[in-house]
Amino acid sequence: MSEPKSNERMEKIVSLCKRRGFIFQSSEIYGGINGFWDYGPLGAELKRNVKDYWWRSMTQRRDDVVGLEATIIMHPKIWEASGHTSTFSDPMVDCLLTKKRFRADQVDPQDGIIYFFTGGRDAATGKESPESYSVLLAAGKNPESARKVARQFYAARGVENAELQGERTEAVQGSTRYNPENGSLLTEPRPFNLMFKTYVGPVESEDNVAYLRPETAQAIFAQFSNVLAVARQKIPFGICQIGKAFRNEINPRNFIFRSREFEQMELEFFIKPDDAAAKSVNAGEPGTEPTWGWEQWHKYWVEERVKWYESIGLGRDVLDFHWQAKEELAHYARATVDILYKFPFGTQELEGIAARGNFDLSQHQKFSGKSMEYFDEETKSRFIPHVIEPSAGVDRLILALLCNAFNEEEVTDEKGNKETRVVLKFHPRIAPVKVGIFPLLKNKPELVKKALQVRDLLRDSMTVYYDDTGAIGRRYRRQDEAGTPYGVTIDFDTLGETPSLADTVTLRDRDTMKQERMAIADLLPFLLGKIR
Ligand code: GAP
Repeated sequence: MSEPKSNERMEKIVSLCKRRGFIFQSSEIYGGINGFWDYGPLGAELKRNVKDYWWRSMTQRRDDVVGLEATIIMHPKIWEASGHTSTFSDPMVDCLLTKKRFRADQVDPQDGIIYFFTGGRDAATGKESPESYSVLLAAGKNPESARKVARQFYAARGVENAELQGERTEAVQGSTRYNPENGSLLTEPRPFNLMFKTYVGPVESEDNVAYLRPETAQAIFAQFSNVLAVARQKIPFGICQIGKAFRNEINPRNFIFRSREFEQMELEFFIKPDDAAAKSVNAGEPGTEPTWGWEQWHKYWVEERVKWYESIGLGRDVLDFHWQAKEELAHYARATVDILYKFPFGTQELEGIAARGNFDLSQHQKFSGKSMEYFDEETKSRFIPHVIEPSAGVDRLILALLCNAFNEEEVTDEKGNKETRVVLKFHPRIAPVKVGIFPLLKNKPELVKKALQVRDLLRDSMTVYYDDTGAIGRRYRRQDEAGTPYGVTIDFDTLGETPSLADTVTLRDRDTMKQERMAIADLLPFLLGKIR
């Protein structure tokens, strides 16, 4: 899909992320490194909250899912068994002039006139380049610019004063064979394996090659028998993991949407093959229906995941769904539903929920020689479990949450001046800071003392931000931009100036900007009710 060249909303979000310390370019002092991003103080809190909440929802609040934390580098046979060594690739093309690399399926289609050149001959030396070459120009452009590009192409091959022989032209529509930036012909597409390679141990030989994992899922399959032996679980049950994954993407882009180092939150939910499930007796326990076949479990997990997104503020109105067609499915998948978010640069995948059959466990059984079979007491049958896999990207979700939260509102300040309020309306559950604590005045020790007491009361249970500098309105704005859902101000009434208001504070709601008075004693239960 082609994207708008610049996207004002996206630019504002990227700039806010840097300005407020959500996300920085990795290694920025050295000019950055493409496809790698760091999370600053607010970003680190946001990311932690998202991962913790996923973990809580997946394991701690369920009886039928357990966790795993595996290594990033694993035995290279894992990737042979999974098919990644042979098939985990994207089609790559290079510009014949600049050598710039593109993903073949992401080159923007172009209309125009192709100028064909059959070879350059050096006017001075008579040396000839046998290579044919072509350049695509938009209709109406001066053909001389095509000749100029071609001369550069031949010059790079040692033909300095190329005379271009046999030039002819052809009109085309929607061609993806040319570099959109300079019109030069691209190479034929060839597969590029996305796994990062490294060597284990001091000898850099083929025998010591290992890969940084391109997904967290395979460790779960490889450890299936060990977990089954200790977890006191019966199928259906799941194993989940959160962790880094690495892909040497040809074109990382759209900020943190497609990067080379990212994090995944994956669940492998093991189920009975349909024939074994059909023989089971329905024990009737909610969420663990032994008779369900893969289609019911697949639907169940799609619905569970959508409800989860809703619970952190991504409603169905900002999500979309894509049921992959047969020809789009990965080699292992029977069905895949992508949950998409409506990003400013287009509606794109957040999470894939795949029905993977028993492909992975069967492959590991074959490659390792270790049995992956499960004995089902109830139906007295032996089988390799099938699996449903909800697989989400942490960083993509962070980007979706930032895009969803970003708002610019026109408001009127205390002096009647109009101003733009930038506010991140994060759901309190995932907001990086839950509450700002503000003594009305910095130079009144009693106010400061009380404010610090309130801070200490809350900060064991949530992230708080204590701020005593600047006008109170400015302090609110700073927290609006950080996405802090609540602000607590300690004023003279808190100290008892109006006796009936002693030990109460004002609680400001970020979204409505309304303030109410609340007893200090009620703050903790109120806030905990909002953030859990
Ligand atoms: N185990 C299945 C699997 O890895 P995937 O669709 O390739 O499936 C799952 O990846 C999720 O990981 C995606 O939906 C996306 O959120 C995230 N993801 C994949 N590649 C990514 C990249 N280069 N940058 C950021 N997130 C990525």
